[in-house]
Amino acid sequence: MQRILVVDDAEVNREILREILKDIYIVEAAADGEQALELLREYNRDTAALLLDLNMPKKNGFSVIEEMRRKGWLKRIPVLVISGEGTAEIENQCFELGVLDFIHKPFEASVVKNRVRNTVDLFAYKNHLEQQVERQTETLKKQDRIIQMQAEKLKEAEPFRELMMQYRCAIMEVETKLKVLNEEFSRAYNRNPLEAIKSRLKTPESIYEKLERKGYPVTVASIREHLNDVAGIRVICSFPDDIYRLADLLERQDDIGLLGKKDYIRFPKANGYRSLHLIISIPIFLSNEKIYMRVEVQLRTIAMDFWASLEHKLKYKRNVEDAEEIVGQLKACADSIEILDYQMQELRNKIDRSLG
Ligand code: GTP
Ligand code: MG
Repeated sequence: MQRILVVDDAEVNREILREILKDIYIVEAAADGEQALELLREYNRDTAALLLDLNMPKKNGFSVIEEMRRKGWLKRIPVLVISGEGTAEIENQCFELGVLDFIHKPFEASVVKNRVRNTVDLFAYKNHLEQQVERQTETLKKQDRIIQMQAEKLKEAEPFRELMMQYRCAIMEVETKLKVLNEEFSRAYNRNPLEAIKSRLKTPESIYEKLERKGYPVTVASIREHLNDVAGIRVICSFPDDIYRLADLLERQDDIGLLGKKDYIRFPKANGYRSLHLIISIPIFLSNEKIYMRVEVQLRTIAMDFWASLEHKLKYKRNVEDAEEIVGQLKACADSIEILDYQMQELRNKIDRSLG
């Protein structure tokens, strides 16, 4: 049985409450605030609730609550105030101090029982959830620390630094190829299909985390073998047809190998994500060897890129309110963007035709 503390200077009240609650709780009683605090000290970890009168000699109820707050006990022990003809003002003052409920006089046995039981159970449940969250947060933090430590080690390792250098070179190669195509395009068609190129190297933390998550060993050989997106290039185009044209030209270059292709433009993801993904293999020429490196190329329009950035932000932000509604609205935006992209392309065609 759980323990309840009843604090009231009137003996008759203590006895009535003891009678009402003794079937379901062990009841300890105190006649004033000082005694109450003594009992709280004694049964601190072992008290399911405190039923507390406000007007008492020596130390009144408010002082008891204040003392409990100072000692951090309020977080652990729910307080119900035994109130006589308490005004709304006093009750609200109690709520503000952290009191959870009131037991009104005259006592109605069944109501008192239910109120106390409800408060005790809800409070215990809330504490349980809080502890669970705390434990999970602790675990996550620990995992984060491990990842960070391992990533630090990885960063220091010479073979890893060499590999990263190679990926940086691969990015330069692909960027140059894209820029060359852009130059040629702008001469042939009088416009630039490329709006922007953004490249990024996956961070050691992220590399480590992905290998662990997929159950691969954390070694340089394993990074080469299992990860396709250490070197990432995002190509932002003006129009959807430029995306396909650029991708096609890139794929057809005889030193480039196409390892994978996902067309999320023709086949958008359920959330509305649209982009063309290529995994390519490209050689880099070092002083005494030629190495093939993998690069992930994502091609999308300005509008698709705008959408993807926002969606990415929302996806990784926890506790976004109305998440479901936002998901729906994002999908609607993606649909509008698709229409817009093709309308713009149509307009461009019209303008091109009218210019002859
Ligand atoms: P990853 O293991 O996350 O790399 O995914 P994957 O191997 O299944 O490859 P996929 O081609 O589906 O995705 C590769 C990359 O495209 C991701 O790492 C993201 O950068 C991007 N991406 C894919 N899906 C989405 C999406 O729904 N929203 C956004 N914002 N980006 C996405
Ligand atoms: Mg990725």
